[in-house]
Amino acid sequence: MNIGIIGAGHIGSALAVRLTSLGHSVCIANSRGPETLTDLAQKTGATPVTAREAARHGELIVVTIPLKNIPDLSKDLFEGVPADVPVIDTSNYYPLLRDGQLPELESGDLTESEWVQQHLGRPVLKVFNNIFAANLEKSGQPAGTPGRIALAVAGDDAAAKQQAMALVDELGFDAVDGGSLHESWRQQPGTPLYCTDLPAADVQQHLASLGTTRTPEQHAQFAANQAAQEKQLQAQGVKL
Ligand SMILES: NC(=O)c1ccc[n+]([C@@H]2O[C@H](COP(=O)([O-])OP(=O)(O)OC[C@H]3O[C@@H](n4cnc5c(N)ncnc54)[C@H](OP(=O)(O)O)[C@@H]3O)[C@@H](O)[C@H]2O)c1
Repeated sequence: MNIGIIGAGHIGSALAVRLTSLGHSVCIANSRGPETLTDLAQKTGATPVTAREAARHGELIVVTIPLKNIPDLSKDLFEGVPADVPVIDTSNYYPLLRDGQLPELESGDLTESEWVQQHLGRPVLKVFNNIFAANLEKSGQPAGTPGRIALAVAGDDAAAKQQAMALVDELGFDAVDGGSLHESWRQQPGTPLYCTDLPAADVQQHLASLGTTRTPEQHAQFAANQAAQEKQLQAQGVKL
């Protein structure tokens, strides 16, 4: 498959390594231009391009840049890209360490990926946001392996979701339907599904017990969990 990746950091490069090793043709972009991606191209086998070219590289696109940088992407990034090309968003909201406060996300009116979707002017799927890049690159296993990590895939387009779920499986993870994009709060930071590397039965159980409509109490609890996690990372000197 031809896959375009916008964002060449931890997640973008982990995906590029795995996807090229599976035989996919990968084009990858950052903010500074393809000439700055020579080393990454050697390491991953992906072809460095501009973000506009990555968005036009075929059958599936992944946007994997910090949330605060989403509004920097050109408004016509996806102009002319066929509507049936799925766009995956991997982003997470880190208000303290990286993104600053975004009112729509603080209030819980929008999920993080709904916010991204609004900015891109294009439907997105949420996946790969809740697994660490190193595990995405190294922890995939063949289907049927006991304890295989499962990843939730949320989105509103059934055909696009099927394609994303097939890719998740190819990368070595069980794919679990995470519901609509509005329900994708269930895989955001602070929730039981965030970077916990659970198998499919546990992911399904958490999705069911969380329900589909986020209550104010759930919003407050998961935001508090995320704030505590960010403060811990800050105390350790981690910079995102
Ligand atoms: N790190 C993880 O383990 C992990 C796990 C799951 C999800 N995520 C989420 O996935 C997203 C990406 O995370 P990451 O850790 O991979 O980020 P990262 O390592 O900081 O890399 C960010 C990448 O985005 C590029 N970028 C920034 N603005 C851009 C723009 N306007 N156009 C094109 N490229 C742009 C940067 O390019 P330049 O360097 O040229 O600016 C860089 O290549 C974040 O929302 C993060 O929360 C991360």
